[in-house]
Amino acid sequence: MKEIKTIGVLTSGGDAPGMNACIRAVTRAAIYQGWRVMGIHRGYLGLYEGDIKELTTESVSNTIKMGGTILKTARCMEFMTEDGRKQAYENVLKFGIDALIVIGGNGSLAGAQVFALEYDIPVIGIPGTIDNDLYGTKATIGYDTALNTIVECVDKIRDTASSHDRIFFIEVMGRDAGFLAQMSAIAAGAEAALIPEDNTGKDQLGEFISRGIRKSKNSSIVIVSESPKDGKGAEYYAKRVRKEYPQYDVRVSILGHLQRGGTPSSVDRILASRLGVAAIEALNEGQRNIMVGIDSNEIVYVPINRAIKMDKPIDKDLIHLLSVLSI
Ligand code: F6P
Repeated sequence: MKEIKTIGVLTSGGDAPGMNACIRAVTRAAIYQGWRVMGIHRGYLGLYEGDIKELTTESVSNTIKMGGTILKTARCMEFMTEDGRKQAYENVLKFGIDALIVIGGNGSLAGAQVFALEYDIPVIGIPGTIDNDLYGTKATIGYDTALNTIVECVDKIRDTASSHDRIFFIEVMGRDAGFLAQMSAIAAGAEAALIPEDNTGKDQLGEFISRGIRKSKNSSIVIVSESPKDGKGAEYYAKRVRKEYPQYDVRVSILGHLQRGGTPSSVDRILASRLGVAAIEALNEGQRNIMVGIDSNEIVYVPINRAIKMDKPIDKDLIHLLSVLSI
């Protein structure tokens, strides 16, 4: 295998709190190893356009506490085409990049996988997404911070819900995964979580209503996963309740992009630092086309195609736990 002297690092897809801590860790661990680091701006778009500048230990100073990504990010259509990837590879050669570190979610790692196979370049993926939907890792960078942000918002909405005796449907992000919805519902003491993984064909809202929409209190909080696939977001459920139970005072709150912003939690900073260093150590050991992840507090290597293709299961016991706690 070709000796590594220079690596490229990019962040891609949706930004996530902790990405900067990860860029910092990748940069410093690579320099520690004696390698040069090229920062690729705006994800694959920067690779395609050649928007690439060297990173030094100083360029990542004081970034550990910052939300967003200093390298910027994008969802790049050109990289989805063979011609686009060919042009990106020309920039890999032009900037002398021997290996690529990709920090991002499912789509970003899928792009990395295709590129690695087409051009025989070592790629290491690092899970960076608030959705926590990558298989093989217990957590992804940004998930913990987003969860804390959601819980803070739900606590505030609870004040209004209980003062006005209202039912609130609060929609949270997660794309096709219900981790943020399920865990925030537990942490915020919500009455229910409507998540795409609970897909036994049963009517989740109907179940919630038949359990007694309001038992021990006069207000309810239902966390709804955004579920872009079936379009059953918070508005869908609110409309149903308004129609079928007009006696209830229903409101909808869509938390939106505020869930992606803000200073990363300590948990995310530590995770990002560990995964960043692990990615460089994996490259140094000769690993390629893997994602570094965390499981039982240990670093694990997951083949990228498994991380992106396998469905990460939700903990079904927690569905039961939530219904026990919401009586
Ligand atoms: O993947 C992260 C995420 O925030 C999802 O939860 C959400 O569905 C999506 O990105 C929103 O994407 P955009 O910022 O492009 O609207």
